[in-house]
Amino acid sequence: MAENRTATLTIDGKEYALPILSPTEGPDCIDIRKLYGQADVFTYDPGFTSTAACDSTITFIDGDKGILTHRGYPIEQLAERSHYLEVCYLLLYGELPSAAELEKFETTVTRHTMIHEQMHNFFRGFRRDAHPMATMVGVVGAMSAFYHDSLDINDPRQREIAAYRLIAKMPTIAAMAYKYSIGQPFVYPRNDLDYAANFLHMCFAVPAEPYDVNPVLARAMDRIFTLHADHEQNASTSTVRLASSSGANPFACIAAGIACLWGPAHGGANQATLEMLRQIGTPENIPDFIAKVKDKSSNVRLMGFGHRVYKNFDPRAKVMKQTADEVLELLGVHDNPLLQVAQELERIALQDDYFIQRKLYPNVDFYSGIILEAMGFPTAMFTPIFALARTVGWISQWKEQLADPQLKIGRPRQLYLGESLRDYIEIENR
Ligand code: ACO
Repeated sequence: MAENRTATLTIDGKEYALPILSPTEGPDCIDIRKLYGQADVFTYDPGFTSTAACDSTITFIDGDKGILTHRGYPIEQLAERSHYLEVCYLLLYGELPSAAELEKFETTVTRHTMIHEQMHNFFRGFRRDAHPMATMVGVVGAMSAFYHDSLDINDPRQREIAAYRLIAKMPTIAAMAYKYSIGQPFVYPRNDLDYAANFLHMCFAVPAEPYDVNPVLARAMDRIFTLHADHEQNASTSTVRLASSSGANPFACIAAGIACLWGPAHGGANQATLEMLRQIGTPENIPDFIAKVKDKSSNVRLMGFGHRVYKNFDPRAKVMKQTADEVLELLGVHDNPLLQVAQELERIALQDDYFIQRKLYPNVDFYSGIILEAMGFPTAMFTPIFALARTVGWISQWKEQLADPQLKIGRPRQLYLGESLRDYIEIENR
């Protein structure tokens, strides 16, 4: 980050020189850290549309060109040639692992897949009809009550163990939340299966009969995990960073990230997209639906479309669409009505001026629900699957932030528009 250029800000005739920081990729950043002290002004940017809240070396997005890279590697190559646990290693440690490093990493993650047996009771405290995201927020937050030996964020070894625990146990927790919601017994993890296959097994096996994981579906599951692994400073990641900046323990921070991800404008969009496709029902109903989306008074949005950063195709959406085709082909589903509606909706939206002018394209969630539904997941499980996949991104960003010697508690300021100072009025005089 070279700091030899400056921007000049003039306020009431007085000039302030602000350093310009140059990234390796992406736009320059004007460093305003000293501005308040020097000029007694804040900057105003609700929604952080023009604000870099941290520096990071993990993920880069060029929203105009539709580029997403992790540690420099394009997401398309990682989705095609790598696999989820290798991408986890890359995100956590910055480089692709050697064969020996990968084996050690996979073995360590695999050995942490079981959860404390007493946590099973914790699940049983929830109503059966609880949304699995509600259960996950609670159970992941409760991990800090079970794993006292990985709570000290100042100890690098404990940070490492917390990272392994979260990545390893999240599939177990998500699968248990699902099993609990359908009244089936919990299925323990199987360490002879790979990460994605083990998750499918924990979700779909029952004690009464053997369940063989279909390797093509396991590969598709792994690819969905890979496509969701990290995405720069999105809302849930920023939530994790903000929670962590106060020194909160890792399990509390990740629970905060899960809570944020649940919203339909973020990770909840995959569930909302499938519900929307079902509601549209058949391609003939698309024009009416599009008209509603364009009518601002309706408050209806085309779910799975649009993105704060991508003003072009979300590169993950392209891989996701290809995966949807492969999975449906494998399952012998050639005329999935939801896929037909989705494809037609995409075709019509991409030709419509409303979407063209606003640069609205399909995002990662437009096709993921179709694949997950074809695999047998109910819609309520879509966002928990996103949460389990994103855990490594949250943890990598959390780890990066804690290693930063300049770490400060995140404490935004505000543009106060309330009442000015006034005197308290006794109740009988109001
Ligand atoms: N359908 C219809 N119109 C839309 C959509 C949409 N999906 N997304 C944005 N717009 C319109 C807005 O109405 C606004 O129009 P205007 O300029 O006439 O007022 C314009 O496009 C800009 O929209 P903003 O809401 O300002 O854009 P922002 O960057 O804040 O929102 C967001 C991004 C939240 C993702 C939005 O596009 C959206 O709600 N999409 C649908 C939900 C979704 O798919 N979320 C998943 C995001 S990816 C992820 O988290 C995994």
